[in-house]
Parts: sequence; structure tokens; C-alpha cells
Amino acid sequence: MKIFLDTADFNEIEQVKHVIDGLTTNPSLMNKAVESLRGKGENINLEDYIRKILKAVKGPVSLEVNSAKYEAIVEEAKLLYDKYNKVNRNVVIKIPVSTFTGEDSVTQFESLMAIRKLKGKIPTNATLVMSVSQAVLAAKAGATYISPFVGRIDDSLKKKIGIPPDRDGYLDAELLEDIAEELVEKSINHKTTSIGSVYSVAERKHNKFHDDGIYSGVDLTEKIISVYDNYGFKTKIIAASIRNKRQVEELAVAGVDIVTVPFSVLLEMEAHYKTKEGVKKFREDAKGLKY
Ligand code: G3P
Repeated sequence: MKIFLDTADFNEIEQVKHVIDGLTTNPSLMNKAVESLRGKGENINLEDYIRKILKAVKGPVSLEVNSAKYEAIVEEAKLLYDKYNKVNRNVVIKIPVSTFTGEDSVTQFESLMAIRKLKGKIPTNATLVMSVSQAVLAAKAGATYISPFVGRIDDSLKKKIGIPPDRDGYLDAELLEDIAEELVEKSINHKTTSIGSVYSVAERKHNKFHDDGIYSGVDLTEKIISVYDNYGFKTKIIAASIRNKRQVEELAVAGVDIVTVPFSVLLEMEAHYKTKEGVKKFREDAKGLKY
């Protein structure tokens, strides 16, 4: 499994550039990093800043396009790639799996067509993947990578279920399934009527706990892994929008190709209270020893 860092903060990149295998950025992360430096009075030239990041990272670096129409995405992807790939030969162009919002002239499939057009010429990362269907379409279009958004799926499920919003909290898919089963069983035991009404009670109770059969962001990624295995898709999966180390560990067990983690999660991954305790004890006991 590869570990990418999900940031555009050069300070964070510098600290762990020898631990990570690559980097992912997006417009929000880029904006946050640049605004924070400008806030500190630094005069930032975005192009130079991106070059500095690319040089620092050994491994793929995703840079996201801002365009939404097919031709514009292709053009921007080529422009970004031509300008930046020569710096360290590690640029991947990140493209939302769909740029359709229904609010402007952008139609469906524009980004998938762009990904297909760039196939074999420029490596792409289809981002904002929220369903198995989108993952399949992106793989069929020839995306080099896809990024399912684990944390954001959890956010929307928590909201749907009514679990208090806790950005970094872990959402246990198995527990949710158990709760749903339990609720269904209870209501069936109370008033067993026709199969039809039992089905509709079960459906109502169960539906609350999933998004079209997806019980958490980790669950979504596990299902994408299975589907890609079923058909031998070569597209690599970068689990993104990671909020805690438990998600990383479950994704590793599931065999995900890559996880991209914010700096805070990488810190969590390195530390353990029992390790700290052990280190303190070893230091204590080593005081009188000379090897
Ligand atoms: O890589 C995608 C990531 O940056 C989004 O994370 O925490 O904003 O959902 P988040």
C-alpha cells in the first residue's frame, strides 16, 4: 500500500517527504496553503510554489483542473501537464469524475470524455468519486487513479442517520448494519402482517442507514476494490478524504492501492500510547547500561 499526503502545505510536505509515496492537492487545499502564507506576509507566486512542491515530492503529485467543459478540461490538463511535468516528471491531472451540477451549460459525461481523451497521454486522477458506479465509469474511461471520498460519504450518512456531526469520527459500517437489522427485527416482531408490509417496514428502517447500499466511506472503497478485482480494471484506487487512522487501517486490510491522508492522520498513524509508554520505560532502564 502506498501512502500519499493530502495537502498543499509546503511546511507539512517538508517534514514527511521521506515517509510518503506521493501527494494529492485540490483547489481548497491549494487556496488554504497560499492564503495562510499570504496571511503571514509572504509574497507567494503560485507557479513557483507549485514547482517547489513538485521538486520536494518523490512520487506522483495530483494537480486539479478548475475547468468543467470537455474541451476546457482537456486544454487545461495539457497546459498544466506541459508547464509542470518537466519539473520532476511526477504530475497527475486530477479531474472531478463529473463536473455536472445542472446549474450551468455543463452537461453530463464531459469529464469522463476528457479522461478518455487524455488516456495514454497524461495520467489522470478522477476525483470526488462517491459511488461504485462512478468508479466503474472512471475506470472504463481509462483514469489512471480514482479518488473515493471516504470522509465525505461518512459525513452524509451521519447527517442522514442523525448522528451528531463529528468531522474526524469513525463511522462503523458493520455496527450500522447490525442496528438496522435489529430495528427491522423489532418492528417485524411487533406486528407481523403481509410480506408486502414487512418488506416496506424493513425498507424504511434499513434505508436510513445506507446510501444506495453503501454503509460508510470505507465500505464504498471496499466495494470498489471488489468490483475492480472482478473485472481486472487497472485503475489504481486512492482512498481520499481520510479523517482518522482507523479508516486507513481498514482500507489497508481491504487491500486498497493508496491512501492519501492529511498531515494530522499521518501523525496519528505514527504514534501509539503503548509505544510511548514502552519507550519511556526502555529509556529509564537504559540509564545504567553501556553497550
Ligand atoms: O483528497 C480529498 C480531500 O482533500 C478531501 O478531504 O476532508 O475535505 O473531505 P475532506
